[in-house]
Amino acid sequence: MRTNLLHRFSFALLVGLPLSAVNLACEQPCGDCRLSNLEWDVVQTLSPLPAVPVDPTNKYQFNDAAARFGQRLFFDKRYSGAIRVPNNGSNGGPGLLVGTKQGTMTSTSAGQVACVSCHDSKKYFVDTRSVPGNVSLGTAYTVRHSPTVVNLPYYKWWGVGGRHDSMWMQASLSPEAGTDTSSDRCKYAHFIWQYHRDEYNSIFTETPLPAELDPSHPNAARFPALCRPKANAMAPDGPWEKMPAEDKREIMQIMANQGKAVVAYENKLISGNALFDKYVAGDEAAMSVAAIRGLRLFVGKAACIDCHNTALFSDSLNHNLGVPQEGLNVPKEDLGHFLDVGIWLGHPFNSASAFSDDPSVNKVAGVVQKEEYKGRFRTPSLRGIALTFPYMHTGNFNTLSDVLWFYNDGGGASSYSGQKSDRLRPLLLTDDEIADLIEFLEALTGEPIPDQWTCDPAPGSTVSCPTP
Ligand code: HEC
Ligand code: HEC
Repeated sequence: MRTNLLHRFSFALLVGLPLSAVNLACEQPCGDCRLSNLEWDVVQTLSPLPAVPVDPTNKYQFNDAAARFGQRLFFDKRYSGAIRVPNNGSNGGPGLLVGTKQGTMTSTSAGQVACVSCHDSKKYFVDTRSVPGNVSLGTAYTVRHSPTVVNLPYYKWWGVGGRHDSMWMQASLSPEAGTDTSSDRCKYAHFIWQYHRDEYNSIFTETPLPAELDPSHPNAARFPALCRPKANAMAPDGPWEKMPAEDKREIMQIMANQGKAVVAYENKLISGNALFDKYVAGDEAAMSVAAIRGLRLFVGKAACIDCHNTALFSDSLNHNLGVPQEGLNVPKEDLGHFLDVGIWLGHPFNSASAFSDDPSVNKVAGVVQKEEYKGRFRTPSLRGIALTFPYMHTGNFNTLSDVLWFYNDGGGASSYSGQKSDRLRPLLLTDDEIADLIEFLEALTGEPIPDQWTCDPAPGSTVSCPTP
């Protein structure tokens, strides 16, 4: 409903309704920076950022002890698998090394990568090591660039291609992801027992760690050191396939619980009250005249609001902009949402699964993989956008100016998968209008995340968190 409404608004603005009453008076002489009633109505749908929405599938979402534990896990590198890409900077970017923070490492070293390696807490949780444009490097190259993990709870689907139907679904198997931390679910369970068992058991009182994780337990063989599922159906059965269902469930419970704790942490990473929000709340001087002109373009001539709407500046839907599959280590093809939607249908951690705290939420009911999803990616939030370069799923646009010129040309022209959205068309924006839009986007940078959530709580870290 809302999208349609906004669509109508931006269409009305495009065809040039008269600017009647003025809601916000500019102190400076501003030419065309005053908002009409209609514009003002639309602008108010973009602010303020509301309270974090409740996710009934994760009962630990607002548990502070779980959030602190999740923060520890987010920074902890000890469970990660071996790095499979030599750290020789061969992909060109200055500082494009997982080892930037960890010092020298070899291509075979394990225990060197954590979530924070690609979602840098000091850089608005993005990977800025990859400039100029590139996909991220964990234990190997990913096929996409790392998005920020700030303001995530406001999305309806997660992942760059709409891959996850909850935030904890992402975090639950992420430690095993082959390009991120390349770990193993059994190795992870042993890691939790070795380093975090008291904290874990104090939070997950209903599902404590099984006693057999203790290496001195007579039945310690119940959980092997490694048990990653076999790579494909044709491969011979490995430890995971041979494990009794109940033992598998125990391991999966640990992965789900830790994932929910990581999400409790991610729920603390909220950044609102940008200059734009202050402006909408009545502080007329909060935004420059150029930024206000940019805002009018955003909801009008440039029609950005067609997709970048709600207080998140994202419709949470997937669109194909024709972003070229080009750049260092960027794969030649990426089917986007078409590929990603297939992953969560029937996924052991989806909202309808046995590990969901409210399977009735069942977001996956009725969802199917459609041809038209090819090459579509989820609309990213634009809050904090000045800080989250490089841009697009390929990380191939280094500046907001690059992005704006891409839109001005009507999106991409070649080297993309699927059909480009018919909503994109040449915008005929002038250089000055593009500069105004950029100034507006810069006014979307919110308040910094409090230090207590960006500091490194891992033992032995150089910049550790203060003791509470
Ligand atoms: C290689 C570096 C790398 C590491 C390590 C890594 N990520 Fe990511 N992360 C990415 C990339 C790339 C994406 C985009 C993948 C996609 O959605 O297709 C992503 C996506 C995400 C998303 C989805 C964000 C959104 O906008 O919906 C979340 C949440 C996330 N990561 C959290 C984590 C957590 C938690 C960990 C640690 C368990 C982690 N990441 C480890 C690179 C990394
Ligand atoms: C048809 C829907 C749509 C419209 C209209 C649209 N966007 Fe986007 N925007 C997206 C999608 C989808 C992406 C991610 C595309 C990708 O990575 O392949 C995106 C990405 C971006 C990014 C990069 C974000 C990041 O974190 O990498 C910026 C900046 C941006 N858009 C700004 C704008 C502006 C400014 C306008 C108006 C000129 C606009 N968008 C119009 C859907 C849209």
